[in-house]
Amino acid sequence: MPERVLACVSMSIALQLVPSVPDDAEVLGLGVFADRLEEGQVPEPLDAAFLTSQGFAAKAGETAVLPGPNGRLVVALGLGPAAELTSTTYRKAAAALARAAQRQSRVATTLLADVPADSGLDRAEVARLIAEGVVLGAYSYTALKSDPEASKVAAVHLLGADGDGDAVGPALERGVVAAEAVCLARDLVNEPGGELTPTVFAERAVELGRAGGFRVDVLDRRAIEGEKMGGLLGVNRGSTEEPRFVRLAYEPEGARGTVALVGKGITFDSGGLSLKTADGMIGMKCDMAGAAAVLATFSALDRLKPPTRVLGYLPLTDNMPGGDATRVGDVLRIRNGTTVEVLNTDAEGRLVLADGLAAASEDRPDAIVDLATLTGACMVALGTRIAGLMGNDEAFVGQVQAAADNAGERVWPLPLPDDMRKSLDSEVADLKNIAGGRFGGALVAGVFLQEFVEAGTPWAHLDIAGPADAQDEDVESRKGGTGFGVRTLLRLLADFEPPAREVVQA
Ligand code: BES
Ligand code: MN
Ligand code: ZN
Repeated sequence: MPERVLACVSMSIALQLVPSVPDDAEVLGLGVFADRLEEGQVPEPLDAAFLTSQGFAAKAGETAVLPGPNGRLVVALGLGPAAELTSTTYRKAAAALARAAQRQSRVATTLLADVPADSGLDRAEVARLIAEGVVLGAYSYTALKSDPEASKVAAVHLLGADGDGDAVGPALERGVVAAEAVCLARDLVNEPGGELTPTVFAERAVELGRAGGFRVDVLDRRAIEGEKMGGLLGVNRGSTEEPRFVRLAYEPEGARGTVALVGKGITFDSGGLSLKTADGMIGMKCDMAGAAAVLATFSALDRLKPPTRVLGYLPLTDNMPGGDATRVGDVLRIRNGTTVEVLNTDAEGRLVLADGLAAASEDRPDAIVDLATLTGACMVALGTRIAGLMGNDEAFVGQVQAAADNAGERVWPLPLPDDMRKSLDSEVADLKNIAGGRFGGALVAGVFLQEFVEAGTPWAHLDIAGPADAQDEDVESRKGGTGFGVRTLLRLLADFEPPAREVVQA
């Protein structure tokens, strides 16, 4: 009988629980606390004095690689001060281990076995986060490199026994599945806009749906016309690429409620006739990161089995300045009948999301979340690592905030001031797509979107323009697509409680 594997095989990395360091392990990762960097307090065969002399301070995510016995590499993994230890520390440390070990294939670590008994941390939860960290840390986008330097890590052996009624094995599996979904979103974001066209994106969705047990319906241009999605069609007008609108559905038996996920899917944003500058266009292949996060989330549902029905809505097009592009001053009619005067074709995300939010509202979900790389203004407000969170329902926005906090993704609340609505009044249509002033652009966009959410449906909006695309490397992600939002959505769907609906007066 083969050895019982307590985990799962990721695309490339097998995580498994072992009683002792396997003979063929090439790397051994050992956790070190910042306030225990003294002789006798660091695990064998590490030498505290030597580590300190090398400038290693055991900050969370910090590593030092040293030659160990039998030609094995030993990696000291900083865990920060013991008193500040949380389960998240282990995601970081595991990601750092995967990075440090990337040229080797067989890795062992005592991280799980050495969780201090008095830390109060749940072992299964730590195992889950170690698995997430390993897969996230090993990620790099190599598809287009002639000489790829992809991580060679193939197996990670966690020292420890499954003393927790088999809780650790499934926890490792959940960590791998979630992290692989994040990596899928990263791949989609990193793929160039000329390759990942709306048509190709929709084909990917179909393939993932077949493999992942969720339903995928693809609307082509003609069907989109039939559905009267004038925002999506208007943005697509300057392009030679056809638009697509993808509907996703995951419908487990006995679901507690329904969440609709809407993702901005601009496969490349040139700005359209309100053309971006050359510099402003760099990175605009990332403008489908919301759609990528939604699709990647669906890819994990069949394995994570949240008790929630989930519907997905992905308006997909590029935003190009072709000869028949939407003109400044043109008026589009959104699916719900609202007319919008387009005064800046670079404010296109809200136009396609308007159709997506209207379509989602029609299906009467218990709540809607949209994710969008929507405004540069949100990055001015919150920087490049924190998403803006807005919404129309305090309780549901609270659920999204809690999910993000639990998942280790940084989001921060922004208001949707009622009195900003009048700044979107148009002379010729129901609304215009920009307010005109220089200030509060992230809020203006949110206020615009709110018009397309059916009154009474709890809705949260995540502006992920900053964190979806990393400008610099950190322990858990490289430059480029981060997969931001996937972990938050998976957590939200696992914990979702339908909020009480506000009674809307007729
Ligand atoms: N896709 C951009 C927003 C963006 C900017 C995402 C930077 C990621 C990084 C969006 O479509 C856009 O162009 N927004 C305009 C809106 C403006 C014209 C009201 C912006 O932020 O400048
Ligand atoms: Mn734009
Ligand atoms: Zn855009």
